[in-house]
Amino acid sequence: MSRADPALVVGDLAAALDTIADHNSGRPMPLISDAHVHALHGQRLAPVADQPPILVPRGESAKSWATLAAIVDELALRAIPRGTPLLALGGGSVGDIAALAASLFKRGTPVIHIPTTLLAQTDSAVGGKTGLNSAGTKNIAGTFHPPALVVADPALLDTLDRRQLVAGYAEVVKYGLIDDPAFFAWCEAHGRALIDGDRSARTHAVRHCLAAKARLVRGDERDLGGTRTLLNLGHSFGHAIESAAGLGRLLHGEAVAVGLTLALRFSAFLRLCPPANADRLAVHLAAVGLPTRLDEVGLKGADLGRWMAHDKKNSASVRTLVLAHGIGRAFVARAVDEAALVAFLAAA
Ligand SMILES: NC(=O)c1ccc[n+]([C@@H]2O[C@H](COP(=O)([O-])OP(=O)(O)OC[C@H]3O[C@@H](n4cnc5c(N)ncnc54)[C@H](O)[C@@H]3O)[C@@H](O)[C@H]2O)c1
Ligand SMILES: [Zn+2]
Repeated sequence: MSRADPALVVGDLAAALDTIADHNSGRPMPLISDAHVHALHGQRLAPVADQPPILVPRGESAKSWATLAAIVDELALRAIPRGTPLLALGGGSVGDIAALAASLFKRGTPVIHIPTTLLAQTDSAVGGKTGLNSAGTKNIAGTFHPPALVVADPALLDTLDRRQLVAGYAEVVKYGLIDDPAFFAWCEAHGRALIDGDRSARTHAVRHCLAAKARLVRGDERDLGGTRTLLNLGHSFGHAIESAAGLGRLLHGEAVAVGLTLALRFSAFLRLCPPANADRLAVHLAAVGLPTRLDEVGLKGADLGRWMAHDKKNSASVRTLVLAHGIGRAFVARAVDEAALVAFLAAA
């Protein structure tokens, strides 16, 4: 199995404990989590985890140099042998900082992700990107460190608050928009049930999205402009929306929901995509409670211009955006017409 194609287990965590234990020949492993998630779900890993856990701050604030240093120091104090997998139990923030620590500790030790948010179960646990924030910039430092194993148990989502769940759902819809119109139609039929707690809908979505992400990452592990770029659909707009709103005010997925809609509306503006496809997307996102328009998140198109200029996916002079010919037909548009983008944003 290639490093970018880790073992992906979707289902009951208790049933996967033996698989996890095998990764360290039955010996317990350091467990990294935040206090909230650990209080809710930490016991489930007791048979395979060292005590006590290594706890990091909740949410985005975990992704700091201070937390990275604290994890590495603690591993050193515990004399953890090289090659011992770290267990990362939590959302994307815990996963990103734990995997970064794993990639650096003794020049690299494995990480096993046990993701606990919809975003982490459908997206961040696979693909190997690790990172932290510094000087107010998200993910400014990081490594590529694919996990040895991912165990995503949809039952762990039952304790997640609705706002987090709905935000994570925007990334689920993204996979349908990229290259899978049948999955988009599945989302339209089952998205509400998924959000309302339907376990089989959640399991189907997690399994489908993790496989889709692994497929898109394969062959472009280091994000060098291949299929992985398509995962950025809605994110150039989305990151600008997050920054313009003030980091932390909107959840990432909320900004992505508006960003996905803008990506399709801009595609329609350029006559690349039928406007009805953009409308269909907006109707579905709104039906599950996600924002689709800038005014819903207190912004105007003109607010985004400055932030879109900062988008790290762009080289000095040429703007690259992921656009779509329709639902399930995303493509990478290189050399996007700047004047058209400015005109579109002015009217958005
Ligand atoms: N590495 C990647 O490829 C990648 C991809 C997408 C996003 N990310 C990163 O992921 C981060 C966002 O992750 P996130 O959306 O999972 O949120 P998060 O990890 O920041 O967690 C959000 C909150 O949810 C709580 N929580 C987590 N699981 C819970 C559960 N089961 N029950 C109750 N509460 C729970 C946490 O305690 C925290 O307060 C961002 O930093 C983003 O950059 C990384
Ligand atoms: Zn995202």
